[in-house]
Amino acid sequence: MQDTLMNKDEFSPKCVLVTGGAGFIGSNFIRYVLANSDDIRVINVDCLTYAGNLENLADIAEDKRYLFVKRDICETDEIIEVCRENGVDCIVHFAAESHVDRSITGPGEFIRTNVQGTLSMLQVARAAGDLRFLQVGTDEVYGTLGETGLFTEQTPLDPHSPYSASKASADHLVSAFGTTYGLPVLITRCSNNYGPYQFPEKMVPLMINNARHDKPLPVYGKGDNVRDWLYVEDHCSAIWTVLRNGEDGRVYNIGGNSEKQNIEVVRAILRHLDKKEDLITYVKDRPGHDFRYAIDASRIHTELGWEPSISFEDGLAKTIEWYLNNPTWLDHVVSGAYQKYYNEMYAGR
Ligand code: NAD
Ligand code: DAU
Repeated sequence: MQDTLMNKDEFSPKCVLVTGGAGFIGSNFIRYVLANSDDIRVINVDCLTYAGNLENLADIAEDKRYLFVKRDICETDEIIEVCRENGVDCIVHFAAESHVDRSITGPGEFIRTNVQGTLSMLQVARAAGDLRFLQVGTDEVYGTLGETGLFTEQTPLDPHSPYSASKASADHLVSAFGTTYGLPVLITRCSNNYGPYQFPEKMVPLMINNARHDKPLPVYGKGDNVRDWLYVEDHCSAIWTVLRNGEDGRVYNIGGNSEKQNIEVVRAILRHLDKKEDLITYVKDRPGHDFRYAIDASRIHTELGWEPSISFEDGLAKTIEWYLNNPTWLDHVVSGAYQKYYNEMYAGR
């Protein structure tokens, strides 16, 4: 496990309630916690939307330290009961609608899950004994950058998409619960993740899946938008560090020091797969597409000793290998509803 600067007030969780643990980052986080501790229990509350998949957790499903509870995060009273019955002492809140493109075509669900759902989980935390609450946030709440500059924790929130507006609202609620009720809250804001178990609506797995079938790779606009890429396991170690050592009420940016233009990422995927660049197809841009995200992660580094450990080149190679070695997982998630989604989002674009 990533070493942190030792803090005399370190929080030692005994039972962590994770929301959205059947999704991409949540499932990686649960695996990370169980692999790096002996006696910590993890409860996964997830209602299994299209993005929630228990196959992501098949290898740890029988672990006695793990419990899955199928609940919607808006079911406040039922989740308070889960906390009381299991002696939960902290909440790591991942559950969300997470895809920007879906928020553009259907914003309503983003408000229900990301705003109402976060309010509900904050009420759970209060009612179950002022539990430590870590909000898993995003750098998208800061808006967009030009060619230069970095997002710091002091950058004003300026969300542009319905997704980022809902996540910014959620962050404000979390801060308000800290200030108003004294709830011990923490907020992390992370850049783009990639790695195993990511649903192939997001760019990296979508491009890997299309390339393996020799289908066109739909690059939005000119492909010159920039994202800062972080391997998912590094994000998990950062969240774990903040949960145990972070200061109440504080925001921590998390980034990979790995800015890339989208087209560079797509070309790297094609190279790894030994496919030709003529699969690249430039398509109509995302409305309101943020140009560049880049993170100043010096606070988490200097205060808590965390830094990313996996380079983009190694992380991408591991990711591609994982998808190639898990064709059954990939075939399951791209069957059925995914095809309808893909056609609606990309046909004639
Ligand atoms: P994901 O879409 O893969 O998973 C979301 C999970 O939440 C799914 O398991 C889904 O079933 C569950 N869920 C959704 N609505 C729910 C509800 N009402 N009740 C219970 N469960 C519900 O998302 P992800 O990419 O793993 O992102 C997790 C969190 O991290 C999100 O809060 C997202 O905003 C944040 N984040 C993601 C990234 C990224 O690059 N993916 C970067 C920074 C922050
Ligand atoms: O920055 C953190 C955010 O990163 C998280 O909060 C979000 O949950 C997560 O989805 C991600 O948002 P992005 O919009 O940056 O990720 P996405 O994978 O959808 O897109 C990455 C870039 O690739 C973006 O500039 C749009 C572009 N893109 C995306 C898709 C799906 C394409 O060019 N073609 C595509 O088909």
